[in-house]
Amino acid sequence: MLVSATEMLQKAKAGHYAVGQFNINNLEWTKAILLTAQELNSPVILGVSEGAGKYMTGFKTVVGMVNGMMEELNITVPVALHLDHGTYDGCLKCVEAGFSSIMFDGSHYPIEENVEKTKELVKITREHGMSLEAEVGSIGGEEDGVIGMGECADPNECKMVADLGIDFLAAGIGNIHGKYPANWQGLSFETLDAIQKLTGDMPLVLHGGTGIPTDMIKKAIDLGVSKINVNTECQLSFAAATRKYIEEGKDLQGKGFDPRKLLAPGYEAIKATVKEKMEIFGSVGKA
Ligand code: 13P
Repeated sequence: MLVSATEMLQKAKAGHYAVGQFNINNLEWTKAILLTAQELNSPVILGVSEGAGKYMTGFKTVVGMVNGMMEELNITVPVALHLDHGTYDGCLKCVEAGFSSIMFDGSHYPIEENVEKTKELVKITREHGMSLEAEVGSIGGEEDGVIGMGECADPNECKMVADLGIDFLAAGIGNIHGKYPANWQGLSFETLDAIQKLTGDMPLVLHGGTGIPTDMIKKAIDLGVSKINVNTECQLSFAAATRKYIEEGKDLQGKGFDPRKLLAPGYEAIKATVKEKMEIFGSVGKA
């Protein structure tokens, strides 16, 4: 059964480790992440962007697939199904579809509007026993070929949003989605430290987990990060393994074109990436 992410992240914050949010795109992704979490006895959060939800034909399909898979595979570790960077309407759709957690990304609104909308969602998610992530300070990334540098959130705004009754908070600390450019300045630990001092026990979320060096990840966890989002890195390892299979001509040998064979190396590559991350984040054995 799906659970909200509140308890697993409170435990992570108290135990000084982080739980990974791994974004899913299809059946192979979901199976690879769920089985790795079970093998490593780790809690896990499955992230679904609105785009990925649409790709999988809708949030109800996603809920059906994840619930079915957990039962058929006997997954007993805590699993949260979480909307990633939701719009207000997207959040409502996920509540209705049966997600166990949502992120409302109001970071592009003026802070007053972000606060208002977040407050409404606090009420709704509480009624449904779901967890809610809010965001302050936008997280950069590539848009139309231009890489925007991540903003640093205002710690006082973080405190204001943290006090609304949300369960965990994403704050920009110079992190960006996708690959980091060569001239990236690194995470702003000064900002993170100031945010954590003001927000206390609130689990903090680090987006853009792909490509952040291990020492920075560990320092971020020391400073209160309890959830780390990883998406691009699984896509890159899936693509590299699939490319290798095809370049070696394996799809042309025997029944190598069978999708169950063709997608197997990419599936194994996702499993290896998720395992590596869970070991770095310290969530292994924490289910
Ligand atoms: P990456 O794609 O950089 O790993 O970021 C994932 C993320 O933050 C999803 O919200």
